[in-house]
Amino acid sequence: MYPKRIKLDEGYQKTYKNVDELLPTLPRSKGWWLDQLLQYQGFWLSTYGIRGSMLIDDHFNPRPTDIIIATSPKCGTTWLRALVFSIINRNSFDFSDHPLRKANPRDLVHFLEAHIRGDGSTASIDGLPSPRLLSTHLPYALFPECMTDDTLACRFVYICRDLKDVLASKWHFANKLRPKGVPPLSLEEAFDLFCKGVSHYGPFWDHVLGYWKASLESPKKVLCLKYEDVKKEPLGCVRKVANFLGVPFTPEEENKEIVEEIVKLCSFENMSNQDVNKSDTRSQEKPISNSDFFRKGEVGDWVNHLSPQMSEILDQITEQKFQGTGFSFH
Ligand code: A3P
Repeated sequence: MYPKRIKLDEGYQKTYKNVDELLPTLPRSKGWWLDQLLQYQGFWLSTYGIRGSMLIDDHFNPRPTDIIIATSPKCGTTWLRALVFSIINRNSFDFSDHPLRKANPRDLVHFLEAHIRGDGSTASIDGLPSPRLLSTHLPYALFPECMTDDTLACRFVYICRDLKDVLASKWHFANKLRPKGVPPLSLEEAFDLFCKGVSHYGPFWDHVLGYWKASLESPKKVLCLKYEDVKKEPLGCVRKVANFLGVPFTPEEENKEIVEEIVKLCSFENMSNQDVNKSDTRSQEKPISNSDFFRKGEVGDWVNHLSPQMSEILDQITEQKFQGTGFSFH
């Protein structure tokens, strides 16, 4: 599975040994597709998530210019990657011939824990020019102190989303990913797993609270957005991200309506209609196709899936989890 591993130096060998020793000792649960999820430091991760996290701990060297796009799956990762990519690179490309018209954002933004998995080391990430744009699903609590202490070692832009829409989106996604011949995951099973906190990088509530609290404690380091707000006020949110990243739009750019161009380019309508994102090709190397990341892109679609009872139970759990924190999705 990791053919290059044998070529890695002693430091990496040690980390892999630690991973191999740790994995069999962790609590396990049924996953959403064929994978199992393991409980690691309070969060449910796949084996590669855990491996990625341990490799980051031991080998990742953050830079002050690093921008980490963080999300819980199905909260708008694709969208946020596109927005931040186009904000950061707005002077490098013509909007009519933009890379986002030819590539899915996941091919333009390196996925931190997955890339480390890819070649077994941090080499592909170490070699990137600054500012590095990296994406992650890891909870804030799993990052090493050198990344989360208040010195500006790197910045995080996080997006969260109403958990009922996340659950509905994740359930659809899981069923797309389940191999042929494996019976579909019922909504009831998905609901049950989600409520127990057993979803990738979950419990979902803890993921959100980790980043949200960090954004209050270190507002220059962590920016927390809500999917619903970006839908409602995309222009304002794009300006907010640019300000946070220290690259505000100039009056000249405002006159040229660059913010509007970015919002249009990254809209669900535009992105889901690009040929590259309509492709439905899955392979062993790429088990997920680009089109799998675009479904409806709407706020409130959960009403078409979850029963009033399910909604009520989720409200109760959410109230309990967020009580006293000041956070709410609305
Ligand atoms: P739905 O399943 O509710 O439609 P992720 O990128 O984190 O996997 O999230 C996927 C969700 O974001 C899906 O939600 C998808 O349709 C939606 N999405 C993808 N691109 C989007 C965009 N440009 N704008 C808004 N939503 C988008």
